[in-house]
Amino acid sequence: MTTEPELLRERAVRALTEARARTAGLTDAVSDQDLTAQHSPLMSPLVWDLAHIGNMEELWLLREVAGRESMHPEIDPLYDAFEHPRAERPKLPLLGPEEARRYAAEVRGRVFDLLEHTPLEGTALLADGYVFGMIAQHEQQHDETMLITHQLRQGAAVLAAPDPGPPQGPAPQAREVLVPGGPFTMGTSTEPWSLDNERPAHTRDIGPFWIDTTPVTNAQYQVFIADGGYREERWWAADGWRQIRGNGIEAPLFWHREADEWLRRRFGVIEPVPADEPVLHVSWYEADAYARWAGRRLPTEAEWEKAARHDPATGRSTRYPWGDADPTPSHANLGQRHLRPAPAGSYPGGASPLGVRQLIGDVWEWTSSDFLPYPGFRAFPYREYSEVFFGPEHKVLRGGSFAVDPVACRGTFRNWDLPVRRQIFSGFRTARDGGV
Ligand code: AVJ
Ligand code: FE
Repeated sequence: MTTEPELLRERAVRALTEARARTAGLTDAVSDQDLTAQHSPLMSPLVWDLAHIGNMEELWLLREVAGRESMHPEIDPLYDAFEHPRAERPKLPLLGPEEARRYAAEVRGRVFDLLEHTPLEGTALLADGYVFGMIAQHEQQHDETMLITHQLRQGAAVLAAPDPGPPQGPAPQAREVLVPGGPFTMGTSTEPWSLDNERPAHTRDIGPFWIDTTPVTNAQYQVFIADGGYREERWWAADGWRQIRGNGIEAPLFWHREADEWLRRRFGVIEPVPADEPVLHVSWYEADAYARWAGRRLPTEAEWEKAARHDPATGRSTRYPWGDADPTPSHANLGQRHLRPAPAGSYPGGASPLGVRQLIGDVWEWTSSDFLPYPGFRAFPYREYSEVFFGPEHKVLRGGSFAVDPVACRGTFRNWDLPVRRQIFSGFRTARDGGV
């Protein structure tokens, strides 16, 4: 597929500009003191993300692509995610808020210059403007990370966005649908800005399975809690049981009970837990235990992708559940347009051919699968994006949350995390074997 150079350039400029507007919104919303504070040992100070965004952009676009010297060699190690784990970042001699803003802006100015004069072809990094798309996705991923930090932060609300409103059409016809067995194409070799772990396209032959037409809701999850789900060892993986008992976990993160009601804290506001919204802030262990209690299981990663991309009419895998068109606001809840998932059953316009909804957007969906490379995987352009995380200790999440920008979301996009993690915008749907 070839795209006009001018169109590619425009696409790169737009993606970078949109990412920076979001970064500015997330960092300008709080005081300098708030920017440099560590709101949770799980997260970096926001000011670290800000300068790290600039540093990655400098590293890949100015040093790697344009061959320039490092602008500030002394700060490069501070912003290498592998040299310093999140918990120790606040103690580093980091750039202050104003310096970090200035640095990121200076890098961006030079990058726009470069983009104007660089042919987007000739090397794998430049073809299709890949490395610019990669850096825009990197910034958007850190914007989601910063939104997680905002959610963990104590204190009054500083972010605002309209609520998604009720579903724009009738509820799905069925609670679950049967996805017929047979081969489908998983992953991609053609999506121009797909990241290394999404490649290459390959055939997977999987058995028939049933999958929920919507994510599991807070109301459904509350039945599990009320039924003593957190107190019965038989529903839990051994590590999960130890983890919830050891930490006194009895509900999703940010929930608490007052009298007979479940309340939650959401970006600084305490509110009743809404019944019809997909459950949010659960660990893989909690999702796995709920599914077992419900007599079901989590979908495998391949099942999730087949449900999201396989078109039974053509036998082809599409980019998104609704087809190949880029996401619009009528397809999915993406891009931090809202600060919460939409009610289960929303976005009929984003349904798959079989009628599965909200696969893209709203909540990241835990799958049962370990994060592993596809056959023929090649690390590109750096091992530390995916390769060093492959293995049984990370579980795959799919589909993206309300906090994910469309540029970093596709039917093939793979996210991963430790099974204990629940500060992320994670939920799930369930599945079961199809039988014969
Ligand atoms: C793909 C979300 C797991 O945030 O750790 C950001 C993305 N990689 N900078 C992460 C990432 C390098 C990554 N996740
Ligand atoms: Fe990063």
